[in-house]
Amino acid sequence: MAHTEIEQGNLITAGKAKALYETNNPEYIWVHNLDQATALNGKRKEAVADKAYYTNQISRYLFEYLNQKGVPTHYVEALNETDSLVHRLTMLPIEVVTRNYASGHFVSRFDVEPMFPLEPTVLEFYYKSDALDDPFMNDSQILALNLASLESITRIKDLTHQINPLLNQLFDEIGITLVDFKLEFGRNTDDVIVLGDELSPDNMRLVDQTTGDSLDKDVFRQQTGDLTTGYAQVLTRLQAKLGE
Ligand code: CDP
Repeated sequence: MAHTEIEQGNLITAGKAKALYETNNPEYIWVHNLDQATALNGKRKEAVADKAYYTNQISRYLFEYLNQKGVPTHYVEALNETDSLVHRLTMLPIEVVTRNYASGHFVSRFDVEPMFPLEPTVLEFYYKSDALDDPFMNDSQILALNLASLESITRIKDLTHQINPLLNQLFDEIGITLVDFKLEFGRNTDDVIVLGDELSPDNMRLVDQTTGDSLDKDVFRQQTGDLTTGYAQVLTRLQAKLGE
């Protein structure tokens, strides 16, 4: 179905950075990005002009790149500057964090230097729950709480291990180090687990290889500057690399 035939329907849910709407086709969800940034699991919230434009465009580039590389994702197409069309998924309540270098919590938890290279790459699961502050969980906790089967956990790990080198290479080619990032997965209407959610500097740490500047949401979390400056850098370089 061409996106010109898609009509926006009722609001399903409004999150911290996006609002999801039904469409006239039950297979599809309309994602509207918001000009809003949050930190501390939503406890700090601010309006940020143009953020929806940057997250939507960056996510589009990264999802289209992964789709082209054969990674199964929910992404269909951009609908306009701030909105995208995705396949409906039933999300797993698990956040999958991949770490190529030490940063954030990993630095304080294990008392290592920031940017210490992590080999092999570290993969962590967190239980997606604002009320519980997204606690860390291991494979057996996921199984015992019936959040996913062993087969599903294996698929999530395999997909993450496929996605990480692809994103690493792409960012490296535009002079950016992918420090860490968070993925979310869900089941599509054929009951297959695919990559969902969004791919943007809201969910990844990106460092400029020349200046060492942070090009992601850490700028907002640590209140060290204007978040969109870094997001604009990321988008400009993706555009130059991948085309309009
Ligand atoms: O940022 P913080 O130190 O609280 O958490 P982290 O576990 O070090 O974050 C690792 C990576 O996952 C970062 O790129 C975060 O942006 C991302 N993340 C996320 O997108 N959403 C969360 N709820 C937690 C982490």
